[in-house]
Amino acid sequence: MRILLWAVEFREVLKRRRMVRAYEPESIPRATLERIVATIRRAPSAGFSQGQRFVVVTESERKRSIADATGEEDYVGEGFSPWISGAAALVVFCTREDDHHDRYRQPDKVEDEGAEIKWRVPYWHVDAGKAAMLVLLAAIDEGLATGVFGVPAKRMDRVRELLGLPPDVAVVEVITIGRAGDDTLSDQRSSRATRPRKQLDELVHWERWG
Ligand SMILES: Cc1cc2nc3c(=O)[nH]c(=O)nc-3n(C[C@H](O)[C@H](O)[C@H](O)COP(=O)(O)O)c2cc1C
Repeated sequence: MRILLWAVEFREVLKRRRMVRAYEPESIPRATLERIVATIRRAPSAGFSQGQRFVVVTESERKRSIADATGEEDYVGEGFSPWISGAAALVVFCTREDDHHDRYRQPDKVEDEGAEIKWRVPYWHVDAGKAAMLVLLAAIDEGLATGVFGVPAKRMDRVRELLGLPPDVAVVEVITIGRAGDDTLSDQRSSRATRPRKQLDELVHWERWG
């Protein structure tokens, strides 16, 4: 019975999962934000390296500076709400690659002759994505909405400076959180609304690709 209840709830959360780029001008209690970002401790990571890091920004001035630095004006037109500065919180997703190297130099992870594995996939970015998904779903669970944007390369130095990031930590993406506002305009222009969702059989292959 417990399992059945859980499954239904998850489907409901998944159904509601979408990017929202306009929010009500209302702050979110600190305790709610803490529950959302605490999901980082439950996120999976390769070898339990735990390279994921967040910087949570809630102060208006700081959000304004980050919005300016990340190019909010690119997303704002007539009738649009300010997506980034108008969010109640920004969660800057970061990754510390060295956590993975440190972990994979430990005795149970090294390969023949004690060498670190050859990284075929940058798991420090993969793991950041897994933590991001938890934040997106946890926000829905709290009745809130989220958006995701990437920081363009040319804007990265300024964003790093504003956040005071140490050199060994890289920014992966930023999640905006708030109570959903009227996002009709921004949603109409979103990538999801302007191209078809791929068919399942293009995305999922059973037993063999072909
Ligand atoms: C890593 C990442 C970066 C994204 N960057 C942007 C962005 O810069 N601007 C934007 O409007 N949406 C951005 N999105 C949102 C996608 O456009 C969105 O997830 C996709 O269109 C599917 O829509 P949905 O998430 O609402 O289902 C980003 C999503 C991800 C995962």
